[in-house]
Amino acid sequence: MMDKQQLRKMLREKLSIITGAQRKAAAITAAQLFTKNSLFKSAKNIACYYSQPLEFSTDAIITEIWQAKKNCYLPVMSEKEKTLLFALYQSEEKLCLGAYKILEPHFSAIQCLTQNLDVVLVPLLSFDKEGNRLGSGGGFYDRTFAFRKDNIQKKPLLIGLGFQQQEVPLLPMDNWDIKLDGMLTEEKLTFY
Ligand SMILES: Nc1ncnc2c1ncn2[C@@H]1O[C@H](COP(=O)(O)OP(=O)(O)O)[C@@H](O)[C@H]1O
Ligand SMILES: [Mg+2]
Repeated sequence: MMDKQQLRKMLREKLSIITGAQRKAAAITAAQLFTKNSLFKSAKNIACYYSQPLEFSTDAIITEIWQAKKNCYLPVMSEKEKTLLFALYQSEEKLCLGAYKILEPHFSAIQCLTQNLDVVLVPLLSFDKEGNRLGSGGGFYDRTFAFRKDNIQKKPLLIGLGFQQQEVPLLPMDNWDIKLDGMLTEEKLTFY
């Protein structure tokens, strides 16, 4: 079995050959699958991520969240604690460069307590049939949602977002890894 580092390298190569047109079409299809689901309909506070070029685009989903008058939150990275806070995303102009040169809402933007988020769309490099997730190696989502390990109330629901071709049969997992509750791709929305 490949280790996490080898898998990350393989997945980054896979992602690099997906064209802009494929990315755009996938983003729109996934947004449609998401918004017609009851999960979206009943959610008020939805966290997303500001997609980087290789990541699955969140553009279409963010537009839908705004149009539905729901709250869209983006992660703000705490470099010191290596955890995420979630702050309200109201317009692109209000974003600023955060740690790792990723655009984020300003620290002073309205925040949502992590436990009060309904759904979190989680970026990833890979996922498997069991709901295991492989991230970029920072462990930010594992640390931030470690409380989900022993809470019976499944909130927030962690939904991975990626291309169907990022799925592998089984990922190597460590004891700190947090599982996904579901996975949204351009083909389907699956719950584990
Ligand atoms: N709950 C946690 N507490 C402390 N460290 C953690 C926690 N979760 C993950 N980490 C650390 O984060 C690092 C990266 O985790 P890993 O699962 O490999 O990355 P990713 O989830 O981004 O793929 C690991 O070295 C691990 O020790
Ligand atoms: Mg992990």
